[in-house]
Amino acid sequence: MTQLNRRHFLGTSAGAALALSASSRVWAQSPNEKLGVAIIGTGGRGQSHMSAFLQDPRSEIRAIVDVDETHAARSADAIEKQQGKRPLVLADMRRVLDDPSIDAISTATPNHWHALCGVWAMQAGKDAYIEKPISHNIAEGSALVAAAKKYKRICQVGTQCRSSAAVRDAVEFLNNGGIGEVKFARGLCYKRRKSIGPLGDYPIPAAVDFNLWSGPAPYTDPRSTRERFHYDWHWQRLYGNGDLGNQGPHQTDIARWGLGIEEHPRNIISYGGRLGYKAERKDPNYVDAGDTANTEVTIYDYGDKTIVFETRGLDVDNSADEQINQMFGPKGNKVGVIFYGSDGYLVQKTYSECVAYDKDMNVIKEFKGGGDHFGNFLDACYSRDPSDQFATARDGHLSAGMSHLGNISYYLGEENKVSVDELESVISKVKSRDDNGETLARTVRHLRDNGVDLERYPLSLGVQLAFDPKREVFTNAPQANPMLTREYRKGFECPTADAV
Ligand SMILES: NC(=O)c1ccc[n+]([C@@H]2O[C@H](COP(=O)([O-])OP(=O)(O)OC[C@H]3O[C@@H](n4cnc5c(N)ncnc54)[C@H](O)[C@@H]3O)[C@@H](O)[C@H]2O)c1
Repeated sequence: MTQLNRRHFLGTSAGAALALSASSRVWAQSPNEKLGVAIIGTGGRGQSHMSAFLQDPRSEIRAIVDVDETHAARSADAIEKQQGKRPLVLADMRRVLDDPSIDAISTATPNHWHALCGVWAMQAGKDAYIEKPISHNIAEGSALVAAAKKYKRICQVGTQCRSSAAVRDAVEFLNNGGIGEVKFARGLCYKRRKSIGPLGDYPIPAAVDFNLWSGPAPYTDPRSTRERFHYDWHWQRLYGNGDLGNQGPHQTDIARWGLGIEEHPRNIISYGGRLGYKAERKDPNYVDAGDTANTEVTIYDYGDKTIVFETRGLDVDNSADEQINQMFGPKGNKVGVIFYGSDGYLVQKTYSECVAYDKDMNVIKEFKGGGDHFGNFLDACYSRDPSDQFATARDGHLSAGMSHLGNISYYLGEENKVSVDELESVISKVKSRDDNGETLARTVRHLRDNGVDLERYPLSLGVQLAFDPKREVFTNAPQANPMLTREYRKGFECPTADAV
């Protein structure tokens, strides 16, 4: 048992508690006191996990787990070089669970693995830093919340804006009435995503253990239908959650946080499609390998508050209205959150920059500064106090949950292709604090500007879903309830919240 675990089992004596919470850096003075970390998944994002734990003197990376041996070896080499000590190199995460030198796991696997990895780790007594979206479906998010509570583990979700000084200060400004009364926020993911290539039958990279990669998801045949094996799983719903569940959880989280919403929405409706790639490839028969929406608008009703989330994957130059252009600039991606207050607007523009405007769009306050989200995780691991955490499992569950609920509405209505007029007539009646008609009109203009023929390739209108936020079930659409979970492969079952 490492010193950290031993401390946990000994409980928090007054002296230890004081020393741990007052300055966890004190503990890092002794090499024996380092927190042993296993990094699970070392593709793109896993590299940032590695850098963060390498830089923090309170932690030591003791294991690298990756089902791609090339990634694992490359990462272990880099760690050995910087840390002076080679970590264990493993393909199967279950091997770190009973390793007493590992106090915490930090995972950046594909989304379909997040929850099971986190639950297993916490059941084994480890703390867990889990990338966003914390889950692949609603039931998995609940399981993580329950596991953190039951096993008294620190479970931090990787929405790093929660540790950003700019965003923290801006949310405080909002809470103090800086822009008056606020009941509506709009999340934007206007982020160009090109086609991922034609749907096909592609070889799995030789270095990848595809059984372990698939884990809780089905073991498919053909084994890969996308050209690029890594990363592009984001756009295949068996593994990813589209951009609403990729970039989205950063912004859904900030929108919810700023509005002070601590529950799931009560009504949800999405419309959208995976559009524009035939025009992009100049081939009317082109079928892209992705099956998540690249264009999606979701309206979340929280009783007296509304959040609208807009996802756009086609070219977004000059595709917004004048006000959004003024806030984010007309050219290039526009990713952030706009809060609409009775006295002005607050805009999260980047991970480390927010701006408040008055009603005439004069800047009234600017917020700048980033943060150390991994450091915040370590703070809580040492203090053993979840209230020290900036992004708990429950935060992750509610914010990822927004993506899942929006996608369920879209998936259920995917075949319900409607004309713009039909869409307008339905959407204009949906309860919302947004001008639903204007948001639709802007979305339609953007699609047409990108060469999408909406008469030939119409938008899909999702099912309007009523959700019971406490029981986490749909109350008007029984066909939607099975989509709150998935069928798990034997050996990779994620337990439900009451069975963790
Ligand atoms: N917080 C952020 O800003 C941020 C940024 C980028 C990505 N992410 C998140 O990080 C996660 C990973 O994204 P990515 O872009 O690095 O994807 P990626 O496909 O590039 O990397 C995933 C890595 O995980 C490995 N892997 C897959 N299954 C595994 C398993 N069972 N055990 C161990 N390793 C496994 C893969 O071999 C690969 O090396 C995603 O969930 C994504 O949403 C977060």
